[in-house]
Amino acid sequence: MKLLFIDGCVSQRGPASRTRALAGAFLSAFQAAHPEAEVETVVLETLDAKPFLPAALDERDALASIGAFDAPVFDLARQFRGADRIVAAAPFWDLSFPAAMRTYIEHISVNGLCYHYEADGCHGDCRGTRLAYLTTGGDFQRPESLGVLYWKQLSAMFGIPRFDYVFAGGLDVDPAKTAALLEAACQEARALGREF
Ligand SMILES: Cc1cc2nc3c(=O)[nH]c(=O)nc-3n(C[C@H](O)[C@H](O)[C@H](O)COP(=O)(O)O)c2cc1C
Repeated sequence: MKLLFIDGCVSQRGPASRTRALAGAFLSAFQAAHPEAEVETVVLETLDAKPFLPAALDERDALASIGAFDAPVFDLARQFRGADRIVAAAPFWDLSFPAAMRTYIEHISVNGLCYHYEADGCHGDCRGTRLAYLTTGGDFQRPESLGVLYWKQLSAMFGIPRFDYVFAGGLDVDPAKTAALLEAACQEARALGREF
């Protein structure tokens, strides 16, 4: 089994990133429960991927039109498409997540590879059966929190049937409560990682 870890833990806190702590809690529990699993990581902070502009989109479309999906521009999409399980982690930034994650999403959203259209609309073509999204926010979680909703809808679009998430919210509200809130979320992430 292959788990793809989308590491979007872009943080001024460096290794002390709360989002990284949440992702670490999930991953150690996952690896303890699935020692045979291969974990592949894509680090968004160091990724050499740019947002798509028209010329680059034209080039990508031309390659897709001849079925040249082995071209490097499709590397991230092929990796995403082939993963059995996926976990993505990113802090809650400006009501969603860092732009590096949005750019990554542009690179994996490939019509003809990760999804396709039929008369009734979009159908997903990814192998994954589960996707989890892990995030930490300064404010408390709201039902309409976009990072979570975005990944939930992406999972559906890519044909990944089960979506789970952990939102460690309220971390910037009262510094005295931050550690306890984060630890509670890490416990949730550990439980999810164990049965993922
Ligand atoms: C650029 C930036 C934008 C942020 N935007 C939001 C936001 O829209 N909503 C929110 O609740 N917290 C926001 N925060 C707070 C972070 O989500 C919060 O501090 C989080 O725990 C940071 O995680 P980290 O320790 O992994 O960096 C923002 C922080 C930064 C640096």
